[in-house]
Amino acid sequence: MKATAIAHTNIALIKYWGKRDNVLILPANSSLSMTLDQFYTETTVEWSDSFTEDQFSLNGKIQSDAKVGRFLSILRDQFSLTSFAHVTSTNHVPTAAGLASSASAFAALALAASKAAGRNDDETTLSRLARQGSGSASRSIFGGLAIWQKGEANDGSDSYAYEIPTPSKLDLALVVAVVDAGPKKVDSRLGMQTTVETSPFFEAWTKQATLDLEAMQRAMKENDFVTMGEIAERNALTMHATTMAANPPFTYMQPLSLALMDAVRDLRVAGIPAYFTMDAGPNVKVLCLTKDAERVKEALSVHTSLLYICHPGPKARVITHD
Ligand code: ADP
Ligand code: DP6
Ligand code: CO
Repeated sequence: MKATAIAHTNIALIKYWGKRDNVLILPANSSLSMTLDQFYTETTVEWSDSFTEDQFSLNGKIQSDAKVGRFLSILRDQFSLTSFAHVTSTNHVPTAAGLASSASAFAALALAASKAAGRNDDETTLSRLARQGSGSASRSIFGGLAIWQKGEANDGSDSYAYEIPTPSKLDLALVVAVVDAGPKKVDSRLGMQTTVETSPFFEAWTKQATLDLEAMQRAMKENDFVTMGEIAERNALTMHATTMAANPPFTYMQPLSLALMDAVRDLRVAGIPAYFTMDAGPNVKVLCLTKDAERVKEALSVHTSLLYICHPGPKARVITHD
């Protein structure tokens, strides 16, 4: 009743920002992401009748974590188990910094928990499960590029991710520029909830994100990198605009984030197609072509020395089990 799994983080090019159901974690709009080769979570789950409570340790320290506790109860319910779980996890990514640790975390946890329970869940089932831990985790079950379809049903049955082909002629890279690896002040869950409840821009955001996703898929089919980048960059800024109009207003941007964005614009003036995106944290991610990645890294190194060149990464996988 024990298994270990690895899942990689993913960064959305069309963002998920806002839930239509906070309990089942159903999004207001569909999203599209790239799974990253460089950042991942490794998680071991053991279910045992001899355990008297759930236990979760992260990077060697026992945690009391409401999101993990809630998720283990959901898994117990869906697996029809009565036993408790011991979960041991290591993040090969900064935790809660806007680098998508919740995505790799709940994808790895869902897969390890399923395998440890002796199940053979398919990827759709695993994606649906991971979604209930953290929305973005639905996409980290898959490698390469993935779309999380919002679904229409109220029970979440059709809200899961699936892999889509990478543009056949494009060798994509994502350069991650770390501004601050520390935990954010407003976590994604609270940030998006405040936005849904109070931002007058929220409705406009969901409409635009839906159009952006369609346009992005068209650009990908046509191997049109410039259009892809333009859509991704504008989509991210549209998302960040919603938070500035929320009540109370907030932003994940820091001075260095803005400096990095300017550096990306300068790269374009110099003829390098590079486009930024940003999540619920100050770190900036730059979409570019692999042939330009070193040049992008060099341009950003004026502002931060913590730079990672990432490529589309593998899907979630079990590495050991009983
Ligand atoms: P991020 O930008 O890193 O995704 P979030 O605020 O979305 O930030 O999620 C951070 C939360 O995800 C943590 O507070 C914790 O609840 C959960 N988390 C992070 N890493 C792990 C892990 N390895 N195992 C289980 N839960 C994790
Ligand atoms: C800005 O998936 O971390 O990174 O579902 O509440 O756990 P919860 O939130 P989370 O939100 C991710 C928000 C984002 C955009 C994205 O990854 O699509
Ligand atoms: Co997250």
